[in-house]
Amino acid sequence: MEVDRRAFLASIGGVGALSALSPEDKAEELEHYMEHMLDDLIEERDGTEKMLYMPDGEAIALSELEQEAPRPPRGVGNLFRPRATEFAPMSAKPDLVEFFQKRFAPGNHVLQSATYALETGQPERTIFACLMHDVVLNLIKVDHGWWGAQLIEPYVEERISWGIRYHAPLRFYPDDSVGYEYPEMYNRIFGEDYVPEPYIRQAADFARAHSWYMEARLITLNDTYAFDPDKVVSLDPFVDIIGRNFKQPKEGLGYDNSPSAHMWRTIGYPDRPL
Ligand SMILES: [Fe+2]
Ligand SMILES: [Fe+2]
Repeated sequence: MEVDRRAFLASIGGVGALSALSPEDKAEELEHYMEHMLDDLIEERDGTEKMLYMPDGEAIALSELEQEAPRPPRGVGNLFRPRATEFAPMSAKPDLVEFFQKRFAPGNHVLQSATYALETGQPERTIFACLMHDVVLNLIKVDHGWWGAQLIEPYVEERISWGIRYHAPLRFYPDDSVGYEYPEMYNRIFGEDYVPEPYIRQAADFARAHSWYMEARLITLNDTYAFDPDKVVSLDPFVDIIGRNFKQPKEGLGYDNSPSAHMWRTIGYPDRPL
């Protein structure tokens, strides 16, 4: 069975949405898609479309009546998905650690990638960038490299937010010099002939030609070591690193009138209606 990758991507909301899914979710989406496709193909082949007969004798194909169950767009951040529990109340002057504890938790993926960077003796700046590289997925998933950089830009050394911005496009491009391979999962999901959208290619080309290239490249490398279901991680080893690399505003995150203060308030209060 040939999978039309464009149709598959469109069915789940596009490339940006796909890239934010865990490998397990990606595999599941593909499986669901292929299951539906198989059913459709068999119905077409055998002419076995199920019909609903109305009282007046009219026959309506069931597939015409079936509607997709409503769902939020896949680009929606985790904090804005249906939930069963209340948000933990934020303090009046929250700091980044509080956001990790109350809004980014459990944060296994970012903690795992930062832990890998720490254990392999990478620069503290890189460790911190890994810790922050995907936290914005709690707010929004579309174009998460750009949003993630913008979120922390007022509070970090420029190279850190730069690296976070470009880790997203660079994921699609291997680099033998550091041992970063194109993720095998992408071959299975996108197909071997997948070509990222032009804006992604352009951003990756720009990053590769930049003197800060490694800031982003190391994030993609550490990323590949951060999907381990058995690894136990904690924020504790990173509290001092946060203190040295994140300029915590004295007014509290969200109240310092920085260009991204509103993003922190949104993360702090996803329930506010306006
Ligand atoms: Fe990412
Ligand atoms: Fe990641």
